[in-house]
Amino acid sequence: MFHWLEKRPFFFAVAVFVVIAFAGLIEILPNFAQASRPVIGTKPYTTLELAGRHVYIKNSCNACHSQLIRPFKSETDRYGHYSLSGEYAYDRPFLWGSKRTGPDLMRVGNYRTTDWHENHMKDPAAVVPGSIMPAYTWLFKNTADIDTAYAEQLTVMKAFAVPYNKELPMADGSKATVALADTVEAARASALEEAKVIAADMKDQDVKDAVAAGQVPEIVALVAYLNSLK
Ligand code: HEC
Repeated sequence: MFHWLEKRPFFFAVAVFVVIAFAGLIEILPNFAQASRPVIGTKPYTTLELAGRHVYIKNSCNACHSQLIRPFKSETDRYGHYSLSGEYAYDRPFLWGSKRTGPDLMRVGNYRTTDWHENHMKDPAAVVPGSIMPAYTWLFKNTADIDTAYAEQLTVMKAFAVPYNKELPMADGSKATVALADTVEAARASALEEAKVIAADMKDQDVKDAVAAGQVPEIVALVAYLNSLK
């Protein structure tokens, strides 16, 4: 049998391919079952956080920032626990990024605050001397698109069975539920409630006025998203 194979390069190559492909599958397949299991404490995004995620994507923050902490001491000392696949369960699409012009943002919610982001987004170099990050002043003027975020929750998130309105176990043993609004009006109202809490920690008068008038500026949605990264 093996003599026969050794004398026929084509069939030998096919046999090698089959053996390697089989071994590869044995290694890869079990991970499919693993990857789909969210890590305890991972929560789906609220409508406001999702709108902020859209602001993040629209402004290409992921061109300079990764969201993927590698299992090296230099990384875990700086950013916290290395990333686990189950933490991305509700990220569609994921924003791992491939280049770090700026620091990783996977857990930025643990060590940066709303007012820090406010000052930094307006003028990065004023907060971090020598920063080459561009200022994002228009985020303070533009209005966030809550309706599209809600539409994403209803379509994409539903299609992937993201567990809205379900009790989810948290790391400290408690339970948390992220509600999905029944109507777009209810979604706008709950996003505004969340936005008020964030705007209360901000100084920009235009932002405060907009939220008081029932609008959600993009910066507020973005900060909601950044604060959720833990
Ligand atoms: C041209 C590359 C570039 C782009 C685009 C960019 N950043 Fe940055 N960012 C940096 C650099 C460099 C730093 C480090 C210096 C500093 O803190 O300002 C940084 C720092 C940060 C920090 C502080 C992180 C920490 O751990 O201290 C946050 C938060 C941040 N960026 C968010 C954003 C967001 C949100 C966007 C999109 C709106 C964005 N960045 C777009 C380059 C960029």
